[in-house]
Amino acid sequence: MKKELPIIALDFPNGREALEFVDLFNSERLNVKIGMELFYIEGPKIVYELKKRGHHIFLDLKLHDIPNTVKSAMASLARLEVDMVTVHCPGGSTMLKAAVEGLTDGTPANGKRPIIVGITQLTSTSPEQVHTEQLVDHKYTLEESVIHYATIAKKAGLDGVVSSPLEAKHIKEAVGYDFQVITPGIRPELSNDDDQKRIATPHQAAHFMSDYLVIGRPITQAVDPVTSYHQMKDDWNKALLER
Ligand code: C5P
Repeated sequence: MKKELPIIALDFPNGREALEFVDLFNSERLNVKIGMELFYIEGPKIVYELKKRGHHIFLDLKLHDIPNTVKSAMASLARLEVDMVTVHCPGGSTMLKAAVEGLTDGTPANGKRPIIVGITQLTSTSPEQVHTEQLVDHKYTLEESVIHYATIAKKAGLDGVVSSPLEAKHIKEAVGYDFQVITPGIRPELSNDDDQKRIATPHQAAHFMSDYLVIGRPITQAVDPVTSYHQMKDDWNKALLER
C-alpha cells in the first residue's frame, strides 16, 4: 500500500456502484478501503474484483470478539491477500495478540502479512460517553485513553492505529515514530458541515505526521471525483516533501 496515495473509502451500497466508481480512474492503481457496508453485501468477491484491477485493499471490518474467534477470522482475511485490516483495541491485549497471530498464520507462504491497525476510541465517541458508559475516570481525558490504547496495541504487535489527524503527532510522540497512524476526517478545506468534526486538510495531516490518509465523501461525492482525488493527492504529496 503506497503512502503517497490517499486511501479512497468505497462507502457504496453495492459492488456495481463501487466498481463503476473505481473505473472512472481508468487503469490508475488506487488504495481503496472496503468497509462493512460493501463487504457484508458482496463478500470476498468485491476484494477479488478490486485486486484484479490492481488496487491495494484496506479491508476495514473492525474485528472485536473473543481471542480465538478473532484469530481465526484474521486468518481468513489474510487468505484474501488484502493489504491492511483493523481490529478494536478495547477487545484487550490478548485479543490483539491473537489477531496478529491469526493474520500471520493465514498469510500465504510467499505473501506479505497485511498491516494491522487498531481502532482506539471511535471518533464518534464523546468524552461524556467515555465517562458515563465506559466508566473511564474523569481524571483521564479521551486523548489519554487513545494514547493508552495505542501503547497496548504496539505491545501486542500491531503496526499502528486509526485516529483523528489532530491526534497523530501525540500518538507518535508517545508510542514511537515507526508506529503507523491512519487518519480519516480529511477535508479539502476547513469549511466542513458534515458529520466529521476533528478534521484536517491533506496538507495539515502531513504536518501532523499522518502516515496514510483515508478520504471518502470529498472524493466519492464530488462532481468530478478524479480531479478532486488528484487535487487532494497533490496537496498531500507536496506537504510530505516539506516535512
Ligand atoms: O466520507 P469520509 O471522508 O468522512 O469517510 C471516512 C471513512 O473513514 C469512512 O469510511 C469512515 O467509516 C471511516 N472512519 C472514520 N473514523 C474512524 C474510523 C473510520 O471516519 N475513526
